[in-house]
Amino acid sequence: MTKTIVANWKMLPDTIEQAEALMQRVAEYVRTLEAQTMDIVVCPQESYLERIGKLIGESGIALGAQDVGVSSRELADADVRFVLIGHSDRRWKAGDSDEITNAKLKEALRAGLTPIVCFGERTRDQGWEAALAAQTVATLAGFTEGQIAQCRIAYEPVWAISTNPDAKPDTPASAVQSMNHIRETIADHFDVSQTTYLYGGSVTPDNVASFLERSEVSGVLVGGASVRSDDFCRILTIASTIV
Ligand code: PGA
Repeated sequence: MTKTIVANWKMLPDTIEQAEALMQRVAEYVRTLEAQTMDIVVCPQESYLERIGKLIGESGIALGAQDVGVSSRELADADVRFVLIGHSDRRWKAGDSDEITNAKLKEALRAGLTPIVCFGERTRDQGWEAALAAQTVATLAGFTEGQIAQCRIAYEPVWAISTNPDAKPDTPASAVQSMNHIRETIADHFDVSQTTYLYGGSVTPDNVASFLERSEVSGVLVGGASVRSDDFCRILTIASTIV
């Protein structure tokens, strides 16, 4: 299966010029990769979308947005193809409820974007399974089998995201356990058996292979390491060797 590597730049780099330099470097690097066996998606902050979209050009990289904050029509006009829905920055920092996330997902699908829908528990304490299942059911409520199948699911445990104090990456085994839990929840409630899963949370060149080598993991969502061009290019190199 084609792997999906998503760069979530969040609010970095600090300036659009730095962002353009990063994009140029990544695009040049991607052109040197022998066969393009991956879907590569770059998600800059909203105000950078247009200029970064122009630079992406024919590189084969897809543009993604971090939210459907601006009108989804504007996103489609800027050649945005993917959009993060329910990222922890939205759910936990900006206070988006499951209902808001559900409405944003509806908007993204209506605009013809491919949603990368993020799920993740805040802590791994007792009760994480129920929390993850409840978040999954509420976020996907009302969607058809076909709509859910259009989404890529990102499992991002909040405690593993590098911007959180004491963050440490999940282990591949425990990430797969959580993905299976989401998969079973979706199968039980929505009768959907085909879903694809990305892992996100402190992914680096050192651990990316351990996640991508698992057959249950179709890709990674990379935050901090995606704005360090050397690290991100190394991640792409490693990912390109794993089929
Ligand atoms: P991280 O971020 O790779 O810096 O942990 C992942 C994310 O928040 O999408």
